[in-house]
This record gives sequence, C-alpha cells and structure tokens, in this order.
Amino acid sequence: MPNITVINQEGEERTIEAPVGRTLMEVIRDNGFDELLALCGGCCSCATCHVHIDPAFVAKVGAPSPDENDLLDSSDHRNEFSRLSCQVPVTAELEGLRVTIAQED
Ligand code: FES
Repeated sequence: MPNITVINQEGEERTIEAPVGRTLMEVIRDNGFDELLALCGGCCSCATCHVHIDPAFVAKVGAPSPDENDLLDSSDHRNEFSRLSCQVPVTAELEGLRVTIAQED
C-alpha cells in the first residue's frame, strides 16, 4: 500500500497509507482532511477536491481528461500541477507522492 504525504491548506503535512484502487480524494477525505470538501462525491462536477501534485509525480499521475480540465479552469488556484483528486486512482507507482490541497476558491 503506497504511502502518500498530504499537505493541508495551512502547510501542515501528514503521511497516510493509500489503498490501491481507491481515489486520492477518498483517501485524503477518509483520513480527516476536512478542507477537501469533495462536494459532488467524486462525480467530476464540483472541483472542490482540487489538489496540486508533486512535480516529480506529474508524469506518473497523468493528464486530466477534457472534462476535468474544463472544471479546473474554473479555479483561481489552478496551476500546471493541478488535478481533481477524485479523478486520480491510487496505484503502487504513487509511493512517496506528495500532494497539496489547493486553497479554496
Ligand atoms: S469530488 Fe467533485 S470534482 Fe472531485
């Protein structure tokens, strides 16, 4: 099970275990990071699960779909490392990932 480090909006970080097959959103939310609102429950329609991926892992995580890309465009905090965490499946390759919860829009 990969370990990932989550950095909250205050800059505090905690390393958690991420079961393969779940999404990053589910893992972050279920570990008590309340600022990851994930209001739509993972349907790719709210953008409140916005995170920034460690630059070293962007290639492993992959690019957003066109729908996700459009939704990310609605955020003032979008950057080149932005993803909607509900659209990122946890894989063994993500061992050591650092992910930062984006500031709220
Ligand atoms: S939880 Fe709504 S877009 Fe990810």
